[in-house]
Amino acid sequence: MQTASEISPKVEPWTPDSWQRRPAAQQPVYPDAKALESSLKHLSRLPPLVTSYEIENLKQQLAGAVRGERFLLQGGDCSESFADCESSAIASKLKILLQMSLVLVQGGKKRVIRLGRFAGQYAKPRSADTETQRGVTLPCYRGDMINRAGFSEAERRPDPELLLRAYERSGLTINFIRSLIEGGFADLHHPEYWELNFVANSPHAAEYTRMVESIGESLRFMETLTGSVLADINRVDFFTSHEGLHLHYEQAQTRQVPRHLGWYNLSTHFPWIGERTRALDGAHIEYFRGITNPIGVKIGPGLTPDEALALAERLNPKNEAGRLTLIHRFGAGRVEQCLPSIAETLQEQGKQILWCCDPMHGNTETTKSGIKTRRFENILSELEKSYRILKECGTHLGGVHFELTGDNVTECIGGASGVTEADLTRDYRSQLDPRLNYEQAMEMALLLARLMAQNS
Ligand code: PEP
Ligand code: CO
Repeated sequence: MQTASEISPKVEPWTPDSWQRRPAAQQPVYPDAKALESSLKHLSRLPPLVTSYEIENLKQQLAGAVRGERFLLQGGDCSESFADCESSAIASKLKILLQMSLVLVQGGKKRVIRLGRFAGQYAKPRSADTETQRGVTLPCYRGDMINRAGFSEAERRPDPELLLRAYERSGLTINFIRSLIEGGFADLHHPEYWELNFVANSPHAAEYTRMVESIGESLRFMETLTGSVLADINRVDFFTSHEGLHLHYEQAQTRQVPRHLGWYNLSTHFPWIGERTRALDGAHIEYFRGITNPIGVKIGPGLTPDEALALAERLNPKNEAGRLTLIHRFGAGRVEQCLPSIAETLQEQGKQILWCCDPMHGNTETTKSGIKTRRFENILSELEKSYRILKECGTHLGGVHFELTGDNVTECIGGASGVTEADLTRDYRSQLDPRLNYEQAMEMALLLARLMAQNS
């Protein structure tokens, strides 16, 4: 077996464009190189979306999750679409994450870090470069930042102007989220602001209402004791994340700032590397190793413990807590085979890792009629197994990563509300991966909170 240092190629000095000397997977091919250059130049002059202070704050909070003091809740759509950049869609994403985090706070007795898959989640890795329909072959759809979903040559042509449109929409999204939070939308004293229209009909309404009331009581009790309003609790933080897939886009917002050392990717707080682009000698690892942000890496079946160690050494050479989150997505059927040896190896080597389970991407299946779906029971089972395995390895599950929506779509099968395979065609809206709907997401949070409460 190879050792980690034999796997790692020689490391050369890093610059924001040093990734360009490595093989870059999943990048679109632009027919007009000049137009791309002009869009990137424009992009690199636009003001950043986030600041280094917020990024450092998130890193500190993630370090708290590594120590077991906080818990990470990361979630949102598989991919954002330009059409969904509107107020009600954004507000409902915040609402579901707020409600779930409240349930997790109650179960785990820990503060929860809310990290949205939003304000930049516009580029997608694909399993094939092209798609063929009725004898016509066109480039595949790679996300609204790159091309359009419609099946015509014009729509599928990668258009560099879309990079600017995506950046602007990310800016609009984050602006609205900040304003809502600043205005008291996320105030724990007013959870009624986060009620989604159909909450009352949910099978979980009563349990959720009880939790809200109990938190309200604790707040009032604390405030009576201290004689003041708990300002820290009034305001909750929201952070943004997206898959850092399109490396020219990421490079354009990679900056040095006056009062912090190093290079920051200022397009998001937390970029992550996808399962398909984590090759150790590839361009994505090269780009990510040089930025200062906290980062995630998706890991799936096929990764050996030595490769995991090499990834940790390359991406977090100073072994800083909060810098590296491993988002594992093995699937319910394979997690017991894959996760223990990786977690044990990294534990033995004393690596500071935040373990975050993505129970969605390893549990994707296609129905007989060709619909992509995921089963509630498999998602829950991967979470429960991960929780137990990490504990047995002497560490802990520090976070979860979901694809979900605050709407009542029918994309995943199962849960107490009983979505069946036949229901999938009723309200399937996702252009890519199937998401937990509101009730399924809340039920998942309640079950996870129970697991956390039993183990705390
Ligand atoms: C995703 O998060 O949407 C995704 C493509 O995941 P993965 O890289 O884990 O397959
Ligand atoms: Co996805």
